[in-house]
Parts: sequence; structure tokens; C-alpha cells
Amino acid sequence: ARHARITGTGSMLPTRRVSNEELAAELAERGLETSDTWIVERTGIRARHFAAAEQCASDLGLGAALNALEAAGRRADEVDLIIVATSTPDMVFPSTASIIQRKLGVHGCPVFDLQAVCSGFVYALSVADSMIRTGAARCALVIGAEVFSRILDFNDRTTCVLFGDGAGAVVLEASDEPGILASRMHADGRYREILCVPGTVAGGQVLGDPLLKMDGQAVFKLAVSVLESVARETLAAAGRTEADIDWLIPHQANIRIMQGTARKLKLGADKLIVTVDEHGNTSAASIPLALDHAVRSGRVQRGQTVLLEGVGGGFTWGAVLLDF
Ligand code: ACO
Repeated sequence: ARHARITGTGSMLPTRRVSNEELAAELAERGLETSDTWIVERTGIRARHFAAAEQCASDLGLGAALNALEAAGRRADEVDLIIVATSTPDMVFPSTASIIQRKLGVHGCPVFDLQAVCSGFVYALSVADSMIRTGAARCALVIGAEVFSRILDFNDRTTCVLFGDGAGAVVLEASDEPGILASRMHADGRYREILCVPGTVAGGQVLGDPLLKMDGQAVFKLAVSVLESVARETLAAAGRTEADIDWLIPHQANIRIMQGTARKLKLGADKLIVTVDEHGNTSAASIPLALDHAVRSGRVQRGQTVLLEGVGGGFTWGAVLLDF
């Protein structure tokens, strides 16, 4: 049988790191009160990175892609599919994937963006896996790249302290050995209002509000329940159990959601990869960023079983179980 395997991981963070204290001081100038203590206790976030003014999702995505190609020992011209998961694309069109393809100096292969907000990377990996298994691709770049700082309302303390910018990428290749063991994707459009950026571009101007809106408590409750159910569904599809999981890499939004999910799956805290403390919530970039950090720090190793889980606006959610 034909499988798909991750052969390299990479990531890129903007250089500007903003601690909770620095952000709190900036917000105080706008008359908003927050504190390092509040942010750490409620979310586990200590710092996030913000892109420079001229830095776009494609710049961060390109850095992560080059990093992943190097780790896989592949050249850009060997890539035959590029999928970019993003909710903060460089422009309305062409896709960020097409901009990254050009920056990589290659052309010809299919490229597209995939929009599933914070579930975007899990969705993109699942789609690339399917395309590799049907023979539509052999060597895919799957990227999550975001500049959420561009859509944050810095007059809303309940959301602007939660997010950051960054990108992560993997090279996914056809292989005789698995690889990706199973994946599951879900969505429920009835929950649109609890997490959205309702504005759009029309008639030569921005129509509606182009900044992020979130009902944090509603998202929290839904996230914990769907993350448990999709984990169980994906494990069952692969004929595995919780006991087989070496590492859980959930979407990095809030440490309490992540710990709650680990507890429900009876996984110790030592199996949970956490980068939300240093990255904040980077939406579609959070999982590949966390995976790359875990690989480069020697925690996630070849042959280990890893469960990736995403949840986000839409509402969307999904999971990928893989042997690394
Ligand atoms: N600083 C200080 N106080 C604050 C801040 C802040 N930044 N933000 C809110 N508060 C206040 C509130 O006004 C409220 O005050 P009140 O009691 O006087 O009304 C109090 O803190 C408690 O607010 P809650 O909203 O009840 O706090 P909660 O414990 O629910 O934490 C949070 C809020 C962190 C947003 C939490 O609900 C959460 O993490 N939800 C999930 C969000 C998430 O994961 N989103 C992303 C998933 S999908 C995606 O990534 C796109």
C-alpha cells in the first residue's frame, strides 16, 4: 500500500518577541487594564511573536518551508504540491501558496490555500495525505502560516492578548511505510458567530468589521468536547488506543484546554507538547510550529506515535494520528 510520511519539519517565528509585561504596558497606554498574572493563569501564555510591518504570511511560510526542505534533504524543485493553511493571507488572491511557490523559485506544481482557521494545518495534512495516497502527489509541502496580529483588535483585551504570528511546515512524501495512520475532519457552521472575522473586501473598500471577534467561554466548552471525541474517533480508525500515543500535539490556544484534553485521554503532562507559553495562539501555524520545536529539541523522535489535534473558527476540528 502507498502511504504518506513526514520526512522533514521546519518553522519560523518573527524576531520581535513581546512579553505579557510589554503588551500590558502597551495596552495601558490605550486605557486597557491587563496583567502578566491574568494572562498566564487563564491561558498559559507568557509571550508571543509579532511580525514586522512589511512581513507577510508568505515570508514566514517561506522560512518554515525552506527549513523543512533542508530537514527532509529535498530541493524546492522536487516538491509537486504546496498547501498553505492560513486565515491571514497576503492578499485576496492569488493564494499565499502561489506567492510562496514563486519565492521558492519553482513553478508548475499545483498550489492552494486552505481555510479552516485553527484547524487548518490538520485539514491540510489530511488533504495532502489523501492526494499522496491516490498518486496525485509524491512530495508535498504542507505549511501553516499566520500573521494574526493584523486582525487583532488592540482595544479588546479579551482577545488581543491571546494570539501571535509564526509559521510551521512539513514535507510529506510517498512511502512504503506509514506515516500517517488515520485522520478525521469535522465542521459545524452553526457556530460561526463564536469565533469570526466578519468583514470582507467589496466595492473597493473593507465591508464590515475586519477584526477578530470571539466568545471565549463558548469556544472553550466546545473545544474541550470535540477534541476528545475526534481523538477517540481517529485512534479507532487506526486500530490504536490512547496507550499507543507517545506525544499529543494539540492546537496551542490555551494551556487549560490542552491539559483538559490530555486528562480526558488519560495522558500524563509529560506527553503533552506545549509551546503556547512562548508563541501564543498562532492559529494554523501552531501545530507545525510545536511539532518542529519538539523534533528539534529531541523530544519527538523517529518511530514514535504522535496525535495532532486542531480546533477553531467555523467551527472546525480534526485530528491526525501518525508514526513519525
Ligand atoms: N486581562 C484582564 N482581565 C481580563 C482580560 C485580560 N486580558 N480579558 C478578560 N478579562 C476579564 C473579563 O472582563 C472578566 O471580568 P469580569 O469577571 O469582571 O466580567 C474576567 O476577566 C473573566 O473573564 P472570562 O472571559 O470569564 O475568563 P475565562 O476564564 O473564560 O478566560 C479566555 C478567557 C482565556 C478567553 C478563555 O475563555 C479561553 O481561553 N477560551 C478559549 C479561547 C480559545 O481557545 N480560542 C481559540 C480556539 S480557536 C482559534 O484558535 C481561532
